[in-house]
Amino acid sequence: MAFILVALAFVLAALCLPQIFRLRGQKLPPGPVGYPVVGNLFELSRALRPHLLFFRWSKKYGNIVHFSVFGQSMMIVNDFDIARELLEKRGATYSDRPNMVLENEILGWDAAMPTMRYGNKLRKHRRLSQALLNPIAAKSYFDLHAEVASSLLKALKEQPEKFYDHILVYATSTIFKLAYDLDVTSENHHLVKFANDAVKKSAEAYQASGSLVDFFPSLKWIYTSCPDWTPFIAKLKNDHTNIREQVMKANRTPYQMAKEKIASGNARPSLVQGAIDSLGGMKFVSAEDEHDIQGLAGILYGAGQETTMATLNSFILAMVCFPEVQRNAQREIDAVIPFDRLPNLDDRINLPYMEAFIKELYRWVSPLIINIPHASISDDYYNDYYIPKGTSVIASIYDMLNVCPHPEKFVVDRFLSGTGLGNVPSDPREAVFGFGRRRCPGVHVADNSVWIAVTQMLASFNFLPEVKDGEEQFPALEFGIEMTRHPKRFRCRIEARKERENI
Ligand code: HEM
Repeated sequence: MAFILVALAFVLAALCLPQIFRLRGQKLPPGPVGYPVVGNLFELSRALRPHLLFFRWSKKYGNIVHFSVFGQSMMIVNDFDIARELLEKRGATYSDRPNMVLENEILGWDAAMPTMRYGNKLRKHRRLSQALLNPIAAKSYFDLHAEVASSLLKALKEQPEKFYDHILVYATSTIFKLAYDLDVTSENHHLVKFANDAVKKSAEAYQASGSLVDFFPSLKWIYTSCPDWTPFIAKLKNDHTNIREQVMKANRTPYQMAKEKIASGNARPSLVQGAIDSLGGMKFVSAEDEHDIQGLAGILYGAGQETTMATLNSFILAMVCFPEVQRNAQREIDAVIPFDRLPNLDDRINLPYMEAFIKELYRWVSPLIINIPHASISDDYYNDYYIPKGTSVIASIYDMLNVCPHPEKFVVDRFLSGTGLGNVPSDPREAVFGFGRRRCPGVHVADNSVWIAVTQMLASFNFLPEVKDGEEQFPALEFGIEMTRHPKRFRCRIEARKERENI
């Protein structure tokens, strides 16, 4: 065993040396000094979550922080202007992703955009998704959003205490309708289970063994060359093969159901239908196209469900804790929208307070604490700093949205009058949905889905603190520590408003 470890240490050192020599004599951005060969691996592996460590490093070293693991450079950027300069203006250099070998080559996520390397395949996926999710295409889903929102309101009226479950079903069914035109009316639906299993098991596998093969792709030979009976390897290979099958099942099953619905002539617009149409119809769809469409539609759940849920649950928390803001929003809705109907997406232009409200909501929530890392495809310099080819650039979105007075307060006025904005971008969506050529392609449908849910909930309900022994119990403004920023579970009262009780 000792021999294997020593041999492994030599192999790792040999693989790291070229990169370490390249960095010598160059002025890198400031950051924590790591150990030889492993770099900052130990600090990262000890951290409860990497982004919690990134916050500490940013406070200590500034707006741009360099660190490394096994000679692989990484950089945290917590300033909006620098992120824009690098990830947008220099998008030709910074639109790759780090090499996620385990996800893409072993676990079967090769057709999933968020982990895809920059190249022809990504361009194909971005083209397809942009054609089907751009602002004009997003309008074709207005009825779909209204339908799902109506189910949400009904569920909230019947069982207000179960609002977490209803928001989960809302976010999930929006994605399944959008991607496949399939109805998912409960969180226990088998399609949701397939998708959750694939995402959860892949994340577990990544935590257990992923990073090493990502840093040293040549370790893939373990999968291709080691016989199945090799100790330890047999179990690893078997586990990973099972996950790959789960990923395939999660992508293939709803796709097949969508195809059957399209063939029956009863399908409404969906991403799958749009993708098939854009290729000229089913008979022109090759096996490779099918794999791509399955991956494209399949990843919408992973990319869009949790982020939407985090935003809407945080909205409810904010309304309970900032009642004055709730009343102001309801006042605008009541002044503009007749009492015999609910606001819909066509009303958006007539509700300026709500527009500023949504901006403050994104700022206050910051649904993703850090961006998905971009990676650079060639050497670059920022100011005097050398940024080596292959650097993973992690934009700290939460930091960018908290550089204003009293960031913990929900203050819509920041975006109405522009005062109290500090260094926060005037439209937080510019940070919340990422940057440049990798910016979230779902931004318009996500924004429509958040807007209609929020505005219709405000029109229909009052969100109030619980009352115990005659005293109002305001929930704590506490959030979890995962990368998607969910509020910690809280309780509140949700009561139908008299003004629109009968709709
Ligand atoms: C409030 C909801 C959402 C938020 C906050 C959000 C945020 C983000 C962010 C920050 C990224 C990374 C961008 C970058 O790397 O620069 C991203 C990527 C992505 N998002 Fe969203 N998203 C949301 C909803 C959605 C929805 C509803 C969909 C699909 C309908 C979607 C599809 C995707 C995809 C496919 C990517 C990967 C793009 C790529 O790697 O090129 N997202 N999203």
